[in-house]
Amino acid sequence: MNNLNDRRFYYPSQQITENAIVKDYDELYRYSVEHREEFWAEQAENLFWHKRWDAVLDKSNPPFYRWFPGARTNIVYNALDRHQQTPVRNKLALIWEGEPGDVRTFSYHSVNREVSQFANVLKSMGVKKGDVVTIYMPQIPEQIFAMLACARIGAVHSVVFGGFSHESLADRINDANSRVVITADGGYKRGKVVEMKSIVNKAMELSPTMEICITIRRANVDVYMENGRDYWYHDLVGLPIASYKCETEVMESDDMLFLLYTSGSTGKPKALVHTHGGYSVYTSTTHRMVFDLKPEDRYWCAADPGWITGHSYIVYGTLINGATVVMYEGAPTYPYPDRWWKMVDKYGVNILYTSPTAIRSLMRFGDSWPKRNDLSSLRLLGSVGEPINPEAWKWYHEIIGNGRCPIMDTWWQTETGGFMITPLPITPLKPGSASKPFFGNEISVVNEEGREVNVGEEGNLVIKSPWPGMTAGVYKDNQRFIDTYWSKYSKQGWYQTGDSAKIDEDGYFWIIGRTDDVIKISGYRLGSYELESIMSSHAAIVESAAIALPHPVKGNCIHIYAVLRKGYEPGKELEKELIGHVITHLGPIAKPEEIIFVDQLPKTRSGKIMRRVLKARALGLPEGDLSTLED
Ligand code: WTA
Repeated sequence: MNNLNDRRFYYPSQQITENAIVKDYDELYRYSVEHREEFWAEQAENLFWHKRWDAVLDKSNPPFYRWFPGARTNIVYNALDRHQQTPVRNKLALIWEGEPGDVRTFSYHSVNREVSQFANVLKSMGVKKGDVVTIYMPQIPEQIFAMLACARIGAVHSVVFGGFSHESLADRINDANSRVVITADGGYKRGKVVEMKSIVNKAMELSPTMEICITIRRANVDVYMENGRDYWYHDLVGLPIASYKCETEVMESDDMLFLLYTSGSTGKPKALVHTHGGYSVYTSTTHRMVFDLKPEDRYWCAADPGWITGHSYIVYGTLINGATVVMYEGAPTYPYPDRWWKMVDKYGVNILYTSPTAIRSLMRFGDSWPKRNDLSSLRLLGSVGEPINPEAWKWYHEIIGNGRCPIMDTWWQTETGGFMITPLPITPLKPGSASKPFFGNEISVVNEEGREVNVGEEGNLVIKSPWPGMTAGVYKDNQRFIDTYWSKYSKQGWYQTGDSAKIDEDGYFWIIGRTDDVIKISGYRLGSYELESIMSSHAAIVESAAIALPHPVKGNCIHIYAVLRKGYEPGKELEKELIGHVITHLGPIAKPEEIIFVDQLPKTRSGKIMRRVLKARALGLPEGDLSTLED
């Protein structure tokens, strides 16, 4: 998909360059890597700290780096409290539109009040500093308020994406020992109500630690509520305890802010930990510089807050910068394929940040849908989640951006907290390339031994230096953190990203894809292991292997090779049943494209499934080194 031969640069207009916050990449980059700690200390000065740091970076115990140790703050203090003393108080923080067309807007002043109320409700339910609160919600303002309310009182939120099944939700609740879950009765998607509380009810049956469920009324769904366990949010906010005032808890820089579960190459999804201090500095700096944020901007990140993109660039980095955030509940194609473009027009959106999958899926409907709306307010565009193919890039650039808007193709991960490789508005762009490392980051493409590969050659993408947005680790599993990310290049002390990439002769990075068993489907992240273990729970299945194959819209799609138990007949009926089985147990985002029945799976002599062989065969590519193949 990447096209290294497309040598044409796209240059930003003079107006963009002249007004850009960062005017010279090379010079600032050099300074930022030669004086990394000074650079980040300068950025940290933009935030409020109750107590300053003893050191910028404690690297005494790698890979457990500690940023701004000794400092005290709370990310919510920077995202909400301090704005109350400035004119930002009266600015719109959030413009929200529901799929049915209902609109709600909130100033920074009113978000602050909503969050305080929510925080007091949580306190009344016994939530304390350090407790993990699970959030499973549609994209409504309360999803953001719930996150901020947890952080305000020092609780740790664990947001589970609303597209996951009750079992996936229960796994995450149980792993985190979470006592309280926040949900809504339902939300709107494609003109239908997705019932969420009933999914939570089923999850709670599988979660012995779960004591309390707080439900927001959104879609007027009839739901089952159990006395002493289930509470309507609107009942609780009516109580005197839910006042509009709530002190923001002062936290240590490296106290936990949130857990976010994500798929790795082996085992069940793991919870990555992000903390208050370094994450505040990293998300706000990257957001300001890359999206070149102006006080009057209206910024729309169309991701779901349930993924890292939403955490960093809808909620935290964004609000710290005092931005006006646009948020939409439903499907981009409902009721017509120009719903998004209508929103850009209606709200005068200046910056739009989305995924290549979304762009490709809207591109399919042709140019007439965007063209019947006024998109002239747009100044910058963004892309994230998967490589963007040059065709989609060009459509986004020409048709949505009218050739005027630079595209910020941001490469990063749940683990990195924020953008790692990204253009700036001043960067000459190549369609399909994420350009160059963000400030402070030394990033390379190396071979298995850790030697840098030649220009244009594919290799493993590694990060050689620590950065303030980096995850503090895997929740309660230090060994897994070391094994997953730091063992391959342990001699050098580099972070292994799991992605392969190339660097071209201009020093531009071209991300190719995952090298492990992580599957990126529509920009969402799933693991082969998760899919395979759900498959094995079906009576017909002996074993299976899930791989990702290219898909014109989703980027990748899931294909599963399955070995049947004796007595089961392969066929369309069974395939349909198994696809349904995966959706029921993992969630609709995990829907396999195809299930292929086989007699056996290619394995190494030690019994490991060789998924790369299946993939190569499916694509008609060379199968590579087969010396370890068993049969
Ligand atoms: C992929 C999402 C190419 C990559 C923020 C990475 C990308 C994984 C890009 C992390 C991009 C993300 N170009 N690939 N601009 N952005 N990826 O944790 O494979 O959901 O490792 O974080 O997405 O996915 P995650």
